[in-house]
Amino acid sequence: MRTFTSLSLAAAVLPLSSAYPWALNIANGEGNAADISEAVTSTLSKRADGGTCPVHLLRKGAAPYSDVYPSKYTGAKNGLPGTGKGGVLVPAKGDTAHAYVKPSASDVRGPCPGLNTLANHNFISHDGQTTFTEMVDAAQNVYNWKYDLATFVATVGVAQDGDPLTQTMSIGCAGGLPKSGTGLQTHNKFEVDASLARTDYALSPTGDAYTVNGTLFGEMIDTCADQKFSLECMAKYNKQRFNESLNTNGQFFNGPFTFFVLGTSLLPMDSFANFKCGTGNPTVSDMAAFWGVSQQSDGSWKYNRNEKLPQDWYNRPEALSLPFIADQVFEQYGLYPTYLGGNTGEPNTFVGLNYPGFVEDGTLQDASPNGIICLLYQTVAIGVPTSLLQTLAQVSPALDFLQSKLNSGFTANFGCKTGQNA
Ligand code: HEM
Ligand SMILES: *[C@@H]1O[C@H](CO)[C@@H](O)[C@H](O)[C@H]1NC(C)=O
Ligand SMILES: *[C@@H]1O[C@H](CO)[C@@H](O)[C@H](O)[C@H]1NC(C)=O
Repeated sequence: MRTFTSLSLAAAVLPLSSAYPWALNIANGEGNAADISEAVTSTLSKRADGGTCPVHLLRKGAAPYSDVYPSKYTGAKNGLPGTGKGGVLVPAKGDTAHAYVKPSASDVRGPCPGLNTLANHNFISHDGQTTFTEMVDAAQNVYNWKYDLATFVATVGVAQDGDPLTQTMSIGCAGGLPKSGTGLQTHNKFEVDASLARTDYALSPTGDAYTVNGTLFGEMIDTCADQKFSLECMAKYNKQRFNESLNTNGQFFNGPFTFFVLGTSLLPMDSFANFKCGTGNPTVSDMAAFWGVSQQSDGSWKYNRNEKLPQDWYNRPEALSLPFIADQVFEQYGLYPTYLGGNTGEPNTFVGLNYPGFVEDGTLQDASPNGIICLLYQTVAIGVPTSLLQTLAQVSPALDFLQSKLNSGFTANFGCKTGQNA
């Protein structure tokens, strides 16, 4: 176990930015939302796509669920709970409205294979400009996520990276949404370091932390295909990625959103497996379909931007709930604990976070499934910084949105403290 220099996040913004000097570049506004917002925008402009993100002022919108197939999906519509009964063929037989359609150059895609796949099948808007309602319906109907998980993840997406007023969100770059500096690929909000198959933001010359990195995809396959992407193996792979970032990325930041990354590592097993025969394990070809990669003649993997549902694919029979996956994340964290904090400008200069009561010396205090859920909830609801950028979520429309969607359920169901600013 290593010893960390302590610093308190709760006390002030300054100690954080001096502990993580790179954070100063993006957050010299020191807590002032407008300044931070401007700093974010100027940081984003260094990106290759800075000025070229396709603009979609009018969303295309998801293809509607036809009443011809009412029993084929969970029946989720209008952002409301469906039946939670899965185990069905997706897309349903004859449902050509949800067949795969190759994305055009002006369609936006981003860091999430689950959403890229939904967009390519018109379960959410094909242009990549989606809404809270589309995501909640599609996560239930396609992947058979339970309503609680679908709403939690979609709420965090819209609050962090979208426009809470219109409840719209880009699955990649901002693309003409009414708010600048938004979109799921925005770094250190929902998109973070040490992802399964995406390069760390600071390690990419163009800040591309959202396109699939074929080398990393190959590492994941080599590490865990034989073990069928089990919880234990993916926990090990996550630790490998943590080590890689620690050792190579001077700006590595491992904030509370790392628990989302642990969560995504369970999705091959929990959401991508083909349940055609009642039970399922994800095969390498299932994984390649969802990640949109093809294997080259030399065995390496290359992104082809064709994320799609595998042929003849049946979703999980039983809905995947938030507490269920939180239990699994907790188990992963126990197997290969990683510390919360970041490097301080050079590789291997890790300093642990201190957020009294939640995280001390980089270690989660309430290491229970509820503790993990609550840390994530706190992170977005009261803006415990995953970086200083996180404070953006404290701007009031985002807060109002989070509170209207999550507050009562989270305090009641998981016993989360509402926090000093809530
Ligand atoms: C409901 C709204 C959703 C939002 C807002 C969302 C957001 C995100 C974001 C921001 C990332 C990048 C995290 C990182 O930096 O590592 C991500 C990654 C990922 N998401 Fe989603 N997601 C959603 C739904 C889904 C669904 C339904 C699935 C699959 C069933 C899924 C599977 C994944 C996987 C496997 C990754 C890891 C990708 C990689 O590292 O290569 N997501 N998601
Ligand atoms: C992909 O990941 C590998 C391994 O971490 C890295 O060496 C390479 O630079 C990355 N490629 C891109 C395009 O980011
Ligand atoms: C990560 O690095 C530590 C320290 O070098 C090492 O002990 C551990 O085995 C590594 N873990 C993995 C999964 O690579």
